[in-house]
Amino acid sequence: MGDNMQIPNYEKARKRSKEETLIRDFNLEDNCLNIGINKKFFLKTYGCQMNEHDSENIRGMLETMGFKETETMEDAQFIILNTCSIRENAHNKAFGMLGRIKHLKEEHPDIIVALCGCMAQEEGVVAEISKKYKFVNFVFGTHNLDDLPKLLNNSLRDKKLNIEVYSKEGDIVENIPVVRESKYKAYVNIIYGCDKFCTYCIVPYTRGKQRSRRKEDILKEVKELVKDGYQEITLLGQNVNAYGKDLYDDYGLADLLVEVSKTNIPRIRFLTSHPWDFSDKLIEVIRDHDNIVNFVHLPIQSGNNRILKLMGRRYTRESYKELYDKLRSIPNISITTDIIVGFPGETEEEFNDTLDIVNYCKFDSAFTFIYSPRENTPASKLKDDITLKEKEERLYKLNELINDYSLKSNKKMLNKTYDVLAEGISTKEGKLFGYTETNKLVNFTGDEDNIGKIVKVKITDAKSFSLDGELVE
Ligand code: SAH
Ligand code: SF4
Ligand code: F3S
Repeated sequence: MGDNMQIPNYEKARKRSKEETLIRDFNLEDNCLNIGINKKFFLKTYGCQMNEHDSENIRGMLETMGFKETETMEDAQFIILNTCSIRENAHNKAFGMLGRIKHLKEEHPDIIVALCGCMAQEEGVVAEISKKYKFVNFVFGTHNLDDLPKLLNNSLRDKKLNIEVYSKEGDIVENIPVVRESKYKAYVNIIYGCDKFCTYCIVPYTRGKQRSRRKEDILKEVKELVKDGYQEITLLGQNVNAYGKDLYDDYGLADLLVEVSKTNIPRIRFLTSHPWDFSDKLIEVIRDHDNIVNFVHLPIQSGNNRILKLMGRRYTRESYKELYDKLRSIPNISITTDIIVGFPGETEEEFNDTLDIVNYCKFDSAFTFIYSPRENTPASKLKDDITLKEKEERLYKLNELINDYSLKSNKKMLNKTYDVLAEGISTKEGKLFGYTETNKLVNFTGDEDNIGKIVKVKITDAKSFSLDGELVE
């Protein structure tokens, strides 16, 4: 590889420096300003809401440079993949896409191809790209998203593969241009990175040290969104409950939510909550503020204490239940979770503990996953002797149970009226779709004028994954 390349390094990615995080403003160099004029870009996003929001910034930067977006890869002069590392199948999808792009580039060698996101932070991935996917023009990581204009500009002149990935946590860059997916709901980052180091998880390596954004920057962004007519915001972070710990002596998520609530934005969500940092004060704040939604995503991962310990989750099934019960005391709250089956060494009995806690909690819904070993994580070094068939059977059994409870929870809503943020035309003929405060999908009758508004909808039918309803005048 060339001399001036920055390749990812796990040793550095694991370190947590004591240095203060630098906060600076986005700066677009003049020579990058018009390089996109008369050109189109194709952007493909994998992964979580954080990646989706990064893609909104990528879109913002590219459009500022004059590019227009296209949904057809074949029409693009610039192709960019914003990737995810969380499980093997996310990897496979991105590599599959690179295979398609390779053919395209053989016919049109002038197309510029870039890869960014979490996979770019992986040593193994970058090694593979520089060996097998040399047609890629540049790779940049999650810590230097704002380098995109500069790297793109360089690649117009120099066609050689350029890798610029930093493994030490990055600065916080404010005011990166943004083009949001929705005109009604918006993502707002509040904390970057993760310091939890759950043993199966790659995120602390790909996103680096936990860094909170300044509260005044967050509030400024929310106030602008209110001015622009946004109805809903989601405060984002891998572990939002840790908000403020690295920045303030005594100011956390609960305090931030109170201040955000005062902007009078109709709906405030926050995602994701780790049970470890969930304070009583936070529960009170959710209960006492109408515009903070009664909805918490609280990943449990497993219902067995030995497995939870091996996962490094820092809570027990008992303490999870205790927190869960406190949250359930908030009227009409909806609680969802994430669960992993087939963690290395998980016995049938241990898996049954997971089913058992699902029966106790009766989650409104859940994302369920088969454990996927990730490069360099501690869990990937554990002996994994459960067969794939066994893992699939566990997943199937778990999903049956989860769907059963989703249906039950949805059925409780029948014939009642709820606030729904109408987001668009549903794939079902003549209907609109939107979400309740508790994040349930509703397809309902109503005319297009309602899109972008929070309307009253009476629920007429309930299924496991969605509800039907009609607009109440
Ligand atoms: N920060 C969030 C989770 C982010 S990742 C939290 O801690 O709650 C989203 C979900 O992916 C996790 O909750 C977990 O259930 C799943 N996940 C993460 N790493 C995984 C792996 N190696 N194999 C399978 N599922 C995984
Ligand atoms: Fe991964 Fe755990 Fe951090 Fe969530 S809290 S991102 S599962 S290390
Ligand atoms: Fe995937 Fe990175 Fe998000 S690994 S889940 S895109 S933080």
